Amino acid sequence: MTTNIAVLVSGRGSNLQSIIDNIENGYIKDAKVSVVVSDVGDAYALERARNHGITDVFVDPSDYSGKQEYEKEVMEVLKDNDVGLVLLAGYMRLVGKDLIAAYRNRIINIHPALLPSFKGLHAQQQAFDYGVKVSGCTVHFVDEGMDTGPIIIQKCVPVLDTDTADDLAARILEQEHKIFPEAVKLFVEGKLKVEGRIVVHT
Ligand code: GAR
Repeated sequence: MTTNIAVLVSGRGSNLQSIIDNIENGYIKDAKVSVVVSDVGDAYALERARNHGITDVFVDPSDYSGKQEYEKEVMEVLKDNDVGLVLLAGYMRLVGKDLIAAYRNRIINIHPALLPSFKGLHAQQQAFDYGVKVSGCTVHFVDEGMDTGPIIIQKCVPVLDTDTADDLAARILEQEHKIFPEAVKLFVEGKLKVEGRIVVHT
């Protein structure tokens, strides 16, 4: 059975592209990106969706009285598209409790640091400024906290003396584009079991 995927985005969409490409090249089987939802009207990710014939939807948060109402609309879009997996790919909002409850252990986020270090925004810059010697990225299920959910895959990269923060971000992004599709493949194949906050690869 095909898993319908919704990808929530706010910007450039290179992680969205890595998911689309890995479905198109057959690495991820029995899955389809059914809809891309953005909270930013001119996000380039929406254009990427259109380029691949994928439904793109802009839900403008300023049209709603608050987070709950806004997410109610997002949930309608997910329901209309019979979505079984929600990916946060550079989606710069905290997900509210109703959406999490509706898709418990079916929302996956990519974060550009080795959690639990450097949560929140500008994680690559935070790591660079802190002076760590390794950083990386994390794919995890989303829970009610900020970047706190059960970890699926992590990947390290070195921080070099010659790096700028942008160099580090680029090195991390390269790995994001590998581990996000890998996690989606495992999910779609039913190979991820969540036990408390531990994710077991079965
Ligand atoms: C990625 O580096 C992603 O890990 C990060 O935003 C970037 C989006 O790039 N996400 C977060 O920081 C979430 N807190 P993309 O739009 O090209 O995929």
